[in-house]
Amino acid sequence: MKKKLIAGNWKMNGSLAANETLVNGLLAGMGVPACQVALCVPSVYLAQCQGLLAGSTMALGAQDLSQYEIGAFTGEISGAMLQEFGVRYCIVGHSERRQYHFETDALVAAKAQRALACGMTPVVCVGETLAEREAGRTEEVVKRQLAAVIHANGHCISEVVVAYEPVWAIGTGKTASVEQAQQVHAVLRQQLQAASNQAGRIPIIYGGSMNAANSADLLAQPDIDGGLVGGAALKVADFLSIIASAC
Ligand code: PGA
Repeated sequence: MKKKLIAGNWKMNGSLAANETLVNGLLAGMGVPACQVALCVPSVYLAQCQGLLAGSTMALGAQDLSQYEIGAFTGEISGAMLQEFGVRYCIVGHSERRQYHFETDALVAAKAQRALACGMTPVVCVGETLAEREAGRTEEVVKRQLAAVIHANGHCISEVVVAYEPVWAIGTGKTASVEQAQQVHAVLRQQLQAASNQAGRIPIIYGGSMNAANSADLLAQPDIDGGLVGGAALKVADFLSIIASAC
């Protein structure tokens, strides 16, 4: 059985002092978990968090990267730069990037490709909006988003992590029911299986108001291989209990 992956997505939260308290609290309470744990932190804190995580089993992650290798792209951060700080996972195509930065399926696919080229595991986010779900378009939307990444990455697709994050469940306290989540995960699993004979090793993780109270049920589903956790990843006790429910 593959290890579950619990990744914290700090989004635009944190400070030098708060990060130190949070990471040290997690390290003190976590022991050696039987699952993989990662922290996707704001880029300016990568160096700090690399230091705090040194010698631990927790992996370092970033929240985005440029699709370009190098050059005149003010404000952007390259995969090679992230790699210098020991970044193992990089979120791409989070719905907040798609929504506020107009990232398209093609751009997200190119970013996944850059992350792989730089030796990092892209955590590719897909998910439908409430309007899309209510219009019965959930499957069509998530399959379209994932198809772009499969198309651009060929056989390397077995090296990605897929995160199903229904947009209506992110930061809203409204979690997808275990049935709703499992159903979409199964669709994504099938799509990956059709694209790669290594699909069985691709973790498909769930994100969207995952918390200490609902994580065990979600993680017990056959096609839910972990969680991408926003709000609850900023609280030591909550994140530890999600980790415990995955291990
Ligand atoms: P949330 O965020 O857990 O706060 O809903 C999840 C995410 O956006 O990755």
